[in-house]
Amino acid sequence: MERSLVLIKPDAMQRGLAGTIISRLENLGLKLVAMKLLHPDKALAQRHYAIHKDKPFYDSLVNYISSAPLIVCVFEGKGAVEAIRKAMGATDPAKAEAGTIRGDFGLDIERNTIHGSDSAATAEEEIKLFFSPDEMFSY
Ligand code: RTP
Ligand code: MG
Repeated sequence: MERSLVLIKPDAMQRGLAGTIISRLENLGLKLVAMKLLHPDKALAQRHYAIHKDKPFYDSLVNYISSAPLIVCVFEGKGAVEAIRKAMGATDPAKAEAGTIRGDFGLDIERNTIHGSDSAATAEEEIKLFFSPDEMFSY
């Protein structure tokens, strides 16, 4: 069964949007198999976004992601990665379609409300950064 790591980003936490976003993902028919409230330190944010370490926006992105407690969760289901990416919308909220999470709630390309894994393989690596096996549930 495919899994995806989701982060509810600081802009969503600060605006009380976590429940709305989680609800949208549950409504895709995906199962919530892990969840916690966590304030990531810079080191964890750096590891999570390590693929972007040479990009000009990396330092700002890391500072942003480590600026508030996040809800971190894992959703599981057939095609979970693609289903969540579709529900998220384009990276830049200005280009994201209405009805997508970023299209409806995103503020700008950094404060874009949600992270979702970009492949099943990436998801497994990301999940290991945030959860130990005993924090993952099967039901
Ligand atoms: P995410 O990883 O957060 O789910 O976002 P994504 O896959 O849609 O986009 P990605 O290319 O992985 O970029 C990660 C985050 O970096 C910020 N970004 N800024 N200024 C820029 O041109 C730029 N490009 C990307 C965004 O906040 C994006 O979510
Ligand atoms: Mg990404």
